[in-house]
Amino acid sequence: MRQLIRGRTLSFHADPALSEDAFTYHENGAVLVEDGKIVATGDYADLRADGLPEIDHRPNLILPGFIDPHLHFPQVQVIASWGAQLLDWLNTYTFPSEAQFSDEGHATRMADAFLKLLLSHGTTSAVAFCSSHPQSVEALFQASEARNMAMIAGKVMMDRNAPEAVLDTPQRGYDDSKRLLEKWHGRGRQRYAITPRFAITSTPEQMEATGTLVREHPDCHIQTHLSENLAEIEFTLSLYPKARDYLNIYESYGLLGPKILLGHSIHLREREIARMAETGSRAIFCPTSNLFLGSGLFDEAGLRAAGITSGIATDIGGGSSYSMLQTLNEGYKILQLRGQKLHPFAAFHWATRGNAVALGMEDRIGTLTPGTDADLVILDSRATPAMALRMEKAQTLAEELFVLQIMGDDRSVAQTYVAGRPML
Ligand code: GUN
Ligand code: ZN
Repeated sequence: MRQLIRGRTLSFHADPALSEDAFTYHENGAVLVEDGKIVATGDYADLRADGLPEIDHRPNLILPGFIDPHLHFPQVQVIASWGAQLLDWLNTYTFPSEAQFSDEGHATRMADAFLKLLLSHGTTSAVAFCSSHPQSVEALFQASEARNMAMIAGKVMMDRNAPEAVLDTPQRGYDDSKRLLEKWHGRGRQRYAITPRFAITSTPEQMEATGTLVREHPDCHIQTHLSENLAEIEFTLSLYPKARDYLNIYESYGLLGPKILLGHSIHLREREIARMAETGSRAIFCPTSNLFLGSGLFDEAGLRAAGITSGIATDIGGGSSYSMLQTLNEGYKILQLRGQKLHPFAAFHWATRGNAVALGMEDRIGTLTPGTDADLVILDSRATPAMALRMEKAQTLAEELFVLQIMGDDRSVAQTYVAGRPML
């Protein structure tokens, strides 16, 4: 069925940091959708037709749905856990909570709640860590497939330095990942991510098995963590004494390349930055998490200057908000502390097309370009009294976007469409 979704459309076709002509904005715009795909985006007057059903979202903005390229599905009940930095936080709160995902009923209930939360916050695609239990992956993909969401997810592989209840073994990690991958990767919009949690929780034998899996499935993303916290780095290097640095561990098992998403990537040495750039490996900035866990300040400009492509993500439940708007807000503040600036155009590019580029999926998601999937978010920049008051003084699109970036959250999400279907 064809339908016209009407509002002020905004879509990026280039990185605003690199191009003056980076986006297309239609004040009186519309998106024409058919069979889950965008057929056209443009002026309403050019797209309207007699008998064509319309949904009118004026005066709200229509953007491509947000993409969250790093978060943890089994941490929905870990968010807002007090008083610890990374390693203590994992041991005290996270591993015990993830252990509960061996229970299929629990995993199913949490998967449904998790996707409802993503959608109510305007996020239509995500790259998610599941727990080490295959049940958690099954639960998430089933819930995602039922909504026809583009989900990238995988079972964490972890075989040491955590409670027995969340551990696998090199063989089980490999076998379970392989079976889940063969079942889910490329099924509808679902994609499998090979997921070694991080070097601390994987023995060299498990890293070896991970490398094998990556060689056998070069089409899959790989997600892990890198240089988030100083104590983490010190412990990691003590576990891999032959490694030149943290990145070199992943490098030596053949994991680097444009498919790897390296969560955090904060405290990097020069050699690591150079190797990430040479291999095309992606850095993922997780602002609310980095502040919440006291991890450190991501060097956006430094990595960009080195030629590294970065994504921006919530990192639930180390992160403290499901909202990509709040994530951009905290990202702005971190870059302020670094003497860098996150312009609203760069911010909204990042949460949409920028993250799609980091995933190598900008031909499918992250824009309003015809032929791509009709995943949309409808944003209300006057959603709260405080925003409405501030908006009285906003004169440009950039100012309006900045109000959303700083003050927006799920209250600003008026609707979310997944493959053309309204989800709220
Ligand atoms: N490093 C390894 N596991 C995790 C996790 O669950 N969250 C964060 N923030 N960092 C990690
Ligand atoms: Zn993480």
